[in-house]
Amino acid sequence: MDYQDIAADLESVLITEDEIHAKIAELARRIETDYAGEKLLLVGVLKGAVMVMADLARELHLPIEMDWMAVSSYGSGTQSSGVVRILKDLDSDLHGRKVLIVEDIIDSGLTLSWLRGNLESRGAESVEICALLRKPDAAKVIVDVKYEGFQIPNAFVVGYGLDYAEKYRNFRDIGVLAPHVYA
Ligand code: IMP
Repeated sequence: MDYQDIAADLESVLITEDEIHAKIAELARRIETDYAGEKLLLVGVLKGAVMVMADLARELHLPIEMDWMAVSSYGSGTQSSGVVRILKDLDSDLHGRKVLIVEDIIDSGLTLSWLRGNLESRGAESVEICALLRKPDAAKVIVDVKYEGFQIPNAFVVGYGLDYAEKYRNFRDIGVLAPHVYA
């Protein structure tokens, strides 16, 4: 979906598809250097991270494995509940693995700080985080993000995997949702 398809529901386009791809390439170069010669496990957080996972994984010149987790965060609202529940667990054994969590966005940080602790407790050798977006002004807990794409204002954004009530995930760019959509 392009801007024209959902223009009425958007306040503005924040980050274009081209800017996203350039940033992912930049992050991939850093990850390749840091994990050269290693067997990396990418853990994607469903469903929002599907696009960034697909693009990052293909951009990496490294042998990687992929696994997925689904955790509850927002339901259909726009506020973090702070309650984290595993809806789908990993298939992989994490003992001795180097894990990179791939996330779309860090808002309050509650989901990721819980997730990192959870994966570390399973015996992973290392657990790092790659997040395309972060809202520094919304942070409720500090999360150490090794690979961060863009810092964005504290607004509700959609596109490139990010949804509002399951819509807009297939919008190519990232845009700020117009308040009338969720008012
Ligand atoms: P946190 O626990 O508050 O950091 O929330 C993280 C999760 O909330 C993300 O993985 C997204 O699924 C969702 N989320 C947070 N902010 C937004 C947003 O602006 N648009 C869409 N989803 C969001």
